[in-house]
Amino acid sequence: MSLLAVTELHKKFGGLHAVNDVSFNVESGSIKAVIGPNGAGKTTLFNLITGALKASAGQVQFKGRDIQGRKTHQIAACGIARTFQNIKLFHDMTALENVMVGRHLRSRAGFMAAMFNLPWTRREERAIRDKAMELLALLEIADFADVDATSLAFGQQRAVEFARALALEPELLLLDEPAAGLNIHETADIGRLITRIRGLGITVLLVEHDMSLVMDISDEIVVLSFGEKIAEGVPAAIQNNSEVIRVYLGD
Ligand SMILES: Nc1ncnc2c1ncn2[C@@H]1O[C@H](COP(=O)(O)OP(=O)(O)O)[C@@H](O)[C@H]1O
Ligand SMILES: [Mg+2]
Repeated sequence: MSLLAVTELHKKFGGLHAVNDVSFNVESGSIKAVIGPNGAGKTTLFNLITGALKASAGQVQFKGRDIQGRKTHQIAACGIARTFQNIKLFHDMTALENVMVGRHLRSRAGFMAAMFNLPWTRREERAIRDKAMELLALLEIADFADVDATSLAFGQQRAVEFARALALEPELLLLDEPAAGLNIHETADIGRLITRIRGLGITVLLVEHDMSLVMDISDEIVVLSFGEKIAEGVPAAIQNNSEVIRVYLGD
């Protein structure tokens, strides 16, 4: 059984079909990429999967259960975490604190406590801190734990965002353009980190423009154009698909 199954998913904004009857599966333990020109519907697709938007039609099943129409926090609690096209870190918080917030968001009680600044027991706090440090180390940014997160280099901010998403202990991680704004070295680092995350048994679905990164790390690729799926397959097949080449290069 696929971890995620998207079936005839549809999202209309007025007369615009931003996502038009898109279907695909994501196999457990894989890295799958969604590519397509600007405006193809990639971010909208992510917003539908994570509950940030309600679909006009179609289904999203996670581990065989229909999650379409559930609220974002319910979907997160099911085991789906995400990062954003524009990095969204908390200001005036260190890298470590940003990740600890992600951890607190795991439980409803933690969420309320985080929202209303309620005290945690010291033992809980300690465990959360240890786990957050572990994640920073995994993503090679432990040295920056006590640095204000938004003052870090772009690549490091991405890694903090990854760590915060992983603090939710997701089974599926959605990454929206993880290499956006990164230089060539940072992009290579991020690719390595994504592969490392998959190595933990976490399934990854990513939207990305950087084709060398996509071709490098993905097991399978879905191609969207004007809201429709125009191709799906392994990187080598996608690279040689005439319809995909036409969409990217023009006639
Ligand atoms: N909230 C919205 N309201 C109206 N139109 C939207 C909204 N979000 C996205 N769109 C439109 O839907 C299409 C797909 O957008 P998006 O999913 O952001 O594409 P991508 O991420 O592939 O660049 C675009 O034409 C965009 O202008
Ligand atoms: Mg987008």
